[in-house]
Amino acid sequence: MSSDPRLLSDSRLAPDRMPGHVAIIMDGNGRWAQERGLDRTAGHREGVESVRAVVRQAHALGLSTLTLYAFSLENWNRPKTEVRSLMGLLEEYLDKELPEIMEKDVRVRALGRLDRLPRTARLVVNHALRKTANNQGMTLAFALSYGARQEIVDAARQLMREAFAGKIDPESLDEKTFAAHMYAPDLPDPDLMIRTGGESRVSNFLLWQIAYAEILNSPLMWPDFREAELVEAIVEYQSRERRFGLTGEQAKGETGEGKDAGKAGQS
Ligand code: FPP
Repeated sequence: MSSDPRLLSDSRLAPDRMPGHVAIIMDGNGRWAQERGLDRTAGHREGVESVRAVVRQAHALGLSTLTLYAFSLENWNRPKTEVRSLMGLLEEYLDKELPEIMEKDVRVRALGRLDRLPRTARLVVNHALRKTANNQGMTLAFALSYGARQEIVDAARQLMREAFAGKIDPESLDEKTFAAHMYAPDLPDPDLMIRTGGESRVSNFLLWQIAYAEILNSPLMWPDFREAELVEAIVEYQSRERRFGLTGEQAKGETGEGKDAGKAGQS
């Protein structure tokens, strides 16, 4: 994860309009491999190289949070050999990168039903979480064994427990309390969500948190998405006007009304 000063030198990037949190659906590993006559595992392996590159670049660009959709709950239904290979790659990545992650002060987080992970993967993930827990730099979150609807159901279940225990009044439930019951409530909502692989689906990823995210689809397969492509995505993000339900003039602050006023509305 060593940082390369050249990565920061793109003059098209406005430093004051960088996204804080970028979330990525890393799609297209399988197709990347098939196009080359390789098996899907080779695509995932090359995809790990993109993970390395994008994490390094996100850190160099000073993003506060990068969330990567590494394994969905639905992915458990893939062939056993593919699941095993993905778990192995995750373990290998965390093992190899941990020294640099520590050196860069990066905090690793994991969102999802981690109890379903095989024992070794769970141990490796828990080790990375514990070891980096006090780091103060970028947060690198992995959505693992993750599903957004399940996250919402888990939050609702917890809220119901609290209501039955008399700790919370259902009438007082608001967005803030609901959000506080998500898997990683301390993380900011994504500003930018990128999906590679050319499809335009959200695929059960951070459904609650992306309410106001800018969504960008890249036609590239994930193994082809590297440092320069992340920069391009952010350049595109910066060209968009985020309105949070306000008029264009309000969002630009031309009417003197704050942009936070619109966050409860629609975009
Ligand atoms: C989608 O490609 C990608 C995944 C299911 C998993 C992403 C995993 C990695 C990048 C490697 C391991 C992760 C880490 C964090 C080290 P796909 O197989 O659905 O592609 P396809 O749509 O072309 O079939």
